[in-house]
Amino acid sequence: MNIIGTGRAHPSLTVTNEMLSRFLDTSDEWITTRTGIKQRQLISHEKLEDLAAEACNNALEDAGISAKDIDFFICSNVVNEYITPSLSCIVQGMIGATCACFDLNSACAGFIYALDIANSFFKTKKEVNHILILCAEEPTRMCDWQERSTCVLFGDGAAAVVLSRGDDFIGSSLSSFSCVEPLYQIRELEKTPFITKEEFGGPLVMKGQEVFKLAVKSSLSDIRKVVEDNGYTYDEVDYYLLHQANIRIIDTIRRSLDQDEVKFPHNIRHYGNTSSASLPILLDELNRNQTLNSGDTIVLSAFGAGFTSGACLLNWSKQ
Ligand code: ACO
Repeated sequence: MNIIGTGRAHPSLTVTNEMLSRFLDTSDEWITTRTGIKQRQLISHEKLEDLAAEACNNALEDAGISAKDIDFFICSNVVNEYITPSLSCIVQGMIGATCACFDLNSACAGFIYALDIANSFFKTKKEVNHILILCAEEPTRMCDWQERSTCVLFGDGAAAVVLSRGDDFIGSSLSSFSCVEPLYQIRELEKTPFITKEEFGGPLVMKGQEVFKLAVKSSLSDIRKVVEDNGYTYDEVDYYLLHQANIRIIDTIRRSLDQDEVKFPHNIRHYGNTSSASLPILLDELNRNQTLNSGDTIVLSAFGAGFTSGACLLNWSKQ
């Protein structure tokens, strides 16, 4: 499986740390030093599906194929305005694709899970030659905007990749373990005349330090597995692209692997944590600004609520 096209789309509104400090007890200094975030792009008038379709069209254009050439479409999404139909079904019609599609929710690790599933589809479905993966997220709609410890962390966005048959995907390691308490959001469902239990909904709940530790531990374990099991050394990897949740998480992982800073490109400064969209957004930036060279070896790694995490190792052969 090879990545042959990438694309992304951001909402138009830029919200700086200074803007947040006008209505929250926070500061640019706190947010920058604790997270590495300076600003984020937030949904205001846009619909997530419009950003999603734009990201897909950009990836298709980069790949030089049309939506009709896509044989399977996977969308990673945690939340959007529709409960049903799936976001993939909505976007499929907007871009003019006709293939089967579905949504997956592996939280912020969704891109790695989608890549792994796509790789299996290429192996088991003879008729599949192109797969489109979309990661479209609006985590800012999950937060309490009076709660400074969560809302300052997130941004919205969408990114997509087009995949074709090939040998670039070397291997992956996925891990999930049920651990709800450190990071969750409960949604209240419609009442029925028969419900007797107490139910409630609310914004995202996060125990930041616990998530931080789980993130470092799981990501390091996934990365070690995927690199060592496939017979590579850490030095042989050209780039480590990690989920953009906190620059200190990225730096802790980098130091544990004893690798140079240039191998860990990041853009959290501009976008905050865009959930599963963060990795393909970064990948698209590095593709378009020609940081990635044909022949590079890349590790992708992400973690999210669940707790889910995953890493994969691949060659970059795109010119
Ligand atoms: N501005 C100012 N002060 C703040 C803010 C803020 N925005 N947020 C919290 N504080 C305060 C706290 O109230 C606390 O004050 P106190 O000492 O008086 O009680 C102090 O700062 C320290 O709080 P901590 O929670 O200990 O700060 P920490 O250094 O752990 O940083 C953070 C918090 C940034 C959330 C960090 O723990 C983190 O990044 N965790 C991982 C989060 C993450 O990755 N989430 C997403 C994962 S999955 C997904 O991507 C959806």
